[in-house]
Amino acid sequence: MLIIASHNGAIGIAGAMRALKQGGSAMDAVEIGIRAVEADPADHTVGYNGYPNILGELELDASIMDGRSLNSGAVALMRGFPYAISVAREVMERKLPHVLLAGAGAERFAREIGAEAWDEMLTEEIRGVWRKRLADSSGEGDVPLLSDDRPLLEWVKLATDPERVAGTVNFIAIDGRGDIASGVSTSGWAWKYPGRIGDSPIIGAGNYADNRYGACACTGMGEMAIRASTARSVVLYLQMGMSLAEAARQAMLDLRDLGGDYIGGMNLIALNRDGAHIGMSSDAGRTYIYQQAEMAEHVEVEREMVEIPARWAGK
Ligand code: GLY
Repeated sequence: MLIIASHNGAIGIAGAMRALKQGGSAMDAVEIGIRAVEADPADHTVGYNGYPNILGELELDASIMDGRSLNSGAVALMRGFPYAISVAREVMERKLPHVLLAGAGAERFAREIGAEAWDEMLTEEIRGVWRKRLADSSGEGDVPLLSDDRPLLEWVKLATDPERVAGTVNFIAIDGRGDIASGVSTSGWAWKYPGRIGDSPIIGAGNYADNRYGACACTGMGEMAIRASTARSVVLYLQMGMSLAEAARQAMLDLRDLGGDYIGGMNLIALNRDGAHIGMSSDAGRTYIYQQAEMAEHVEVEREMVEIPARWAGK
């Protein structure tokens, strides 16, 4: 039994491991671990109290993948429901003929299945951070009027904050039966254009699990993982016979081929079916966490760095 997670998964990993030890599945562990992060008001990149979009609305993305069957569920742009990972799992388990529900449809589905809804998804503190960013970037000295016809196109480029693009939580688990599951949840970029969807709910981009080979999940600038199919690439490279380190390294190197101006920080965690694990980052000093069944608590370890020269101010 093994769980690996991005470093912000520390709040959820003990509960996830407890579930595995009690006979729970890898899917259970991933969901339990991520729910703890989604409920944590101190994490501003995932679930409740994440940084909102430029209009001050919190839009959540999440996905979960079952390595036994490659079945998956995902939601995007979901408002008002803190536990995006649980709704994503239900998209899969209710046996809809769909994998990904977005926006009003995701919210309708969440209501229909009785998912927990919260009236207030942001604290005053985070509303204040958003208001300040708006005021600072508008040049108007005050929070601009957010009317429907206000053009956001240029303004969103000013307001989007490279320091707050990273974040997101990853969990990957191997249970007592050797089954693998992976999950990702995020509130996405701070001050993003409304309707922007990142890599987290896109199977193959930010999340992929296959019992036969292994699994990978990403954090960082999701647009890059979408364009390079990063999570799927790692698993495909494993399928092609590369070692875990080679597969993860190659998927990071692939990101260097991306053109355009918006190239920033990327991170991934991955494991293979034998329980070897690795973390990679384009930034020095980044970490991830892991716990095996026999360990009393999780350990934080450094990620290997593969430099991806940033073409955007900040990472
Ligand atoms: N990696 C998370 C996002 O870009 O939304």
